[in-house]
Amino acid sequence: MKQSVKLVAGNWKMNGLGASLGEAEALAKALQEQAAACRVALCPPATLIERMGRVLTGTSVELGGQDCHAEASGAFTGSVSADMLVDAGAALVILGHSERRAGFGETDADVAAKVEAALTAGLDPIICIGETLAEREAGLAVEVVSRQVAGSLPVSLSGKAFAVAYEPVWAIGTGLTPTLEQIEEVHAAVRAAMVARLGEGGRVAPILYGGSVKPSNAAEILGVAEVGGALVGGASLKAGDFLGIIRAA
Ligand code: PGA
Repeated sequence: MKQSVKLVAGNWKMNGLGASLGEAEALAKALQEQAAACRVALCPPATLIERMGRVLTGTSVELGGQDCHAEASGAFTGSVSADMLVDAGAALVILGHSERRAGFGETDADVAAKVEAALTAGLDPIICIGETLAEREAGLAVEVVSRQVAGSLPVSLSGKAFAVAYEPVWAIGTGLTPTLEQIEEVHAAVRAAMVARLGEGGRVAPILYGGSVKPSNAAEILGVAEVGGALVGGASLKAGDFLGIIRAA
């Protein structure tokens, strides 16, 4: 089976007000002038999804959420369901980001339940995994991500459009990145764990790298075997920086 098209997704995290929509507009305009060689998505905070959708209508840039609740509706104050993301115009959703695992206590089982909800709603999930610095230093990176794949990917993903994002926790927002050899080693292990979990259905979905990706390191990272795109935080906030990464894919 051939590897699916690369995906470069921007995760705005808790950044962005209405005034930031100009960045999305500038990005879409640049990609209209010269099309991207990859799939491109922006994942703004929930409050901006619908407004950004209006800016991106008719363009090649897709929209995503940053999280969703596992339940379809109900008494879950402050939460957003997968159906609500779809209703607002999203086509994708980031799930299990390390900031949610660490800050909100999300477990692999919680992430798997959210993935099921996303699939039911018709969203393409981007499922995040990655080791902490302590785990990396203890030589446990491969073991940790393999366990996260087994626990966070429900078997119902087989045959569906989705992506896995390998984001070493210590590389997120720090300017630090693993060596290319370390990225290659982990991505190969993630692929093996996906195939062990999903069978042939685990061979196609792209495995994104995330953690301090910027225009200056994107080409070399995106050139590593089994790197099927990038999940970009800080460098996705400015159209020019994000475009530099997209052009490297
Ligand atoms: P960063 O964040 O690019 O700012 O390191 C990546 C992420 O958390 O997805």
